[in-house]
Amino acid sequence: MKDASRRTRGYHPEDRAVSPLPSVLFAASECAPFAKSGGLGDVVGALPIALRERGHDVRVVLPRYGFIDTRGMRRHEAPLGVPLGASEAWCAVYETTLPGSDVPLYLIEHDALFARPYLYDPVGGWSHDNFARFTCLSRASLQLCKYLGFIPDVVHVHDWPTALVPVLLNTVEASGPLAATATVLTVHNLAYQPHFAAAELDLAGVGWGVFQEQGLADQGAINPLKGGLWHATMLTTVSPRYADEVRTPAMGAGLDHVLRYRGADLVGILNGIDERVWDPRADPHLPARFDAADLSGKTVCKRALQDDLGLAPEPLTPIVGIIARLAEQKGIDLVLACLDRLLALDLQLAVLGAGDPALERELLAAAATYPGRVGVRIGFDERVAHRIEAGADMFLMPSRFEPCGLNQMYSQRYGTLPIVHAVGGLDDTVEDFDPARGTGTGFKFHPATADTVLAAVDRACEVWSERPLVWRAMQRRAMTTPFGWDRAAERYDEVYRWALERRRWW
Ligand code: ADP
Ligand code: GLC
Repeated sequence: MKDASRRTRGYHPEDRAVSPLPSVLFAASECAPFAKSGGLGDVVGALPIALRERGHDVRVVLPRYGFIDTRGMRRHEAPLGVPLGASEAWCAVYETTLPGSDVPLYLIEHDALFARPYLYDPVGGWSHDNFARFTCLSRASLQLCKYLGFIPDVVHVHDWPTALVPVLLNTVEASGPLAATATVLTVHNLAYQPHFAAAELDLAGVGWGVFQEQGLADQGAINPLKGGLWHATMLTTVSPRYADEVRTPAMGAGLDHVLRYRGADLVGILNGIDERVWDPRADPHLPARFDAADLSGKTVCKRALQDDLGLAPEPLTPIVGIIARLAEQKGIDLVLACLDRLLALDLQLAVLGAGDPALERELLAAAATYPGRVGVRIGFDERVAHRIEAGADMFLMPSRFEPCGLNQMYSQRYGTLPIVHAVGGLDDTVEDFDPARGTGTGFKFHPATADTVLAAVDRACEVWSERPLVWRAMQRRAMTTPFGWDRAAERYDEVYRWALERRRWW
């Protein structure tokens, strides 16, 4: 007989043999390849498959945005009723699977709320009904469980768009079939915290009792992420380092006090990457394939990238790649601030990005000023992203903060050594070059300023041109570093069990 007081402290490895694998519903606003604006989409498209491979019953629910083609998908016959304020939103449910797996994906269709060409906001504007849209998604996720007769052990939610789910489970669903369902809220990026007018709260049906400081209320407005952080059974961040950072006033985006308070329930789990999608040995987007033992295909990819982006066809000039959402977070302004000095290092820049119109304009202006030296593609383009990862020699990420970051892992897999600000997941996933031992998988700098960016790129270029054998060894080390999802899936399994245990004592 196990000691009950000890059992309250969470999951114990010996439980695994006797307890079945927790079943999980992922409720999210993005899921690659169906809908993606950044790494959140990559995670929701891949982690469920890794969990499925461990044997979990895992399913995903996503809005049916206007650009998702439902042809060939199964449409459930009965409509799904979703309480929204005093009325009910009637939704259709489409079902398919995540590519290459048998993980069910459910798409919630409601034309007035979701059939738009964007996920969150239109280009250059604001969507004024996002509280209604994502409240509908959150409530629909739970209605769907009951509709399908799938009562998951855990609902795993992601960032603010589904952060209301834990609040719903603690209020409107506190009795009934979902009463024992636990929640895990993963913080991908604390910087995204929309606030909504308190008057909208009635839409959610959660009652005014949760509109308090230890809940949804934030300076008189509704902050769904804050509510989720107070109400979720367990919290995770997408890297261990970020789990520490978010507890500090400097990086807690105004919620550090909540994250400190809930520190015992907060775990940092490093993201993985989808090694089938990001595989230089089999990448369909590339003109040639390569691996750690034979990099000759990478030379072909470099030449193709130079052609793609209008760069001079010089094999002996290093290419520094950048792929980013053009947002303050990513520090692209730091690169622009030292552009002349960077180019004096005799390198080429290959940039892919979209977002802030001012940054887009400045990047295009840089390409016009330095033809053949700076190649810029504005837009969201999966194919070009793969071709930059493969064809560049180095990959630059001067992010001011980075909860995890995926591109530095993709680039390592493609033998493109990352140059990163030592922060968040960038610090956790890149091993700094050690000049004495000739080891490392990339180059780190701190803090993030134009001067430190410049110095780090200079350091990388020096190794690239002066120590080619060391560079080669670093590439091999980077390319063979395991970044798959299997380890993360194991950690999430553990967190789900802790969450279940806690929920039982709730
Ligand atoms: P974040 O989620 O903060 O944007 P990540 O590094 O975690 O940062 O993930 C970004 C993901 O989005 C990567 O898969 C990256 O390749 C992709 N991405 C970002 N910008 C673009 C773009 N303009 N075109 C294609 N893919 C992009
Ligand atoms: C966020 C973060 C990024 C992270 C991604 C996936 O968008 O900005 O660092 O890799 O989510 O978790």
